[in-house]
Amino acid sequence: MSAPERIPPRSVTSVHLLTEGELTVRGRIRDASNAALFCTVAHQGQEASCVYKPVAGERPLWDFPDGTLAEREVAAYEVSEATGWGLVPPTVLRDGPYGEGMVQLWIDAAPEAELLALVDGEEPGPGWRAIGLAEVGEGRTALLVHADDERLRRMAVLDAVINNADRKGGHLLPTEDGRLYGIDHGVTFNAENKLRTLLWGWAGEALTDEAVEVLGGLREALKEGGTLAVRLAELITTAEVAATRARVDVLLASGRHPEPSGEWPAIPWPPV
Ligand SMILES: Nc1ncnc2c1ncn2[C@@H]1O[C@H](COP(=O)(O)OP(=O)(O)O)[C@@H](O)[C@H]1O
Ligand SMILES: [Mg+2]
Repeated sequence: MSAPERIPPRSVTSVHLLTEGELTVRGRIRDASNAALFCTVAHQGQEASCVYKPVAGERPLWDFPDGTLAEREVAAYEVSEATGWGLVPPTVLRDGPYGEGMVQLWIDAAPEAELLALVDGEEPGPGWRAIGLAEVGEGRTALLVHADDERLRRMAVLDAVINNADRKGGHLLPTEDGRLYGIDHGVTFNAENKLRTLLWGWAGEALTDEAVEVLGGLREALKEGGTLAVRLAELITTAEVAATRARVDVLLASGRHPEPSGEWPAIPWPPV
């Protein structure tokens, strides 16, 4: 038998494979806060690696309704697809050995130049953007910085739209072919502002022209009866779809990257 074909991320076929394929659990991912299983999915001679997070394995949270994280992960994928930026690996909702859950294409992350760093002093230096000062023990502080990278800047816009409450360094996966994927989108789309991220490097700055254009497209797609609005309504509540539409409107009205609200810890800690 020939080796199974590897499916490139972000193709219609990978969504089909993830949805239709036979799901086999290969192992449990350690350090995951919810049950996250490493799996393979196989269909008609094609095979891919994926992660499967059954709804039954979701840890209850005080600020999100129980059993809704898998749908939020799929909703994040749908918004990412609507931007055309392809920032979230193909993600579907389906049945599996432990019941309904989310299944997401596995991304082989390639270590590359650091996206995050801690530096002495108060200035980020060329090629870096400041996140904030961090306590690093013994009364010392250091400046937490992220790379001044257009892919991260797009991710920051996506996170503002989906209201990501947990964008850590470990949830950013760069690949060998120069792409960057975000993962772990269970705590998104809350109707309250919960944006908690490392990607504050552009806070308060003007959005790029490209981002404004993409947000304009999202506004259309999120209108009552719009393609994205209809799709999201299957995954999150009506109030959460309306809040998503409102966040897009606020971004377009201000023309700027959001700033921390002050009502919610703005930076996830630890940052990775
Ligand atoms: N699609 C994916 N591709 C590659 N690695 C993944 C993917 N999804 C999860 N992982 C790995 O599994 C770990 C746990 O998954 P995560 O989504 O963070 O789960 P949890 O909701 O439990 O925090 C991640 O930190 C990452 O190392
Ligand atoms: Mg995680």
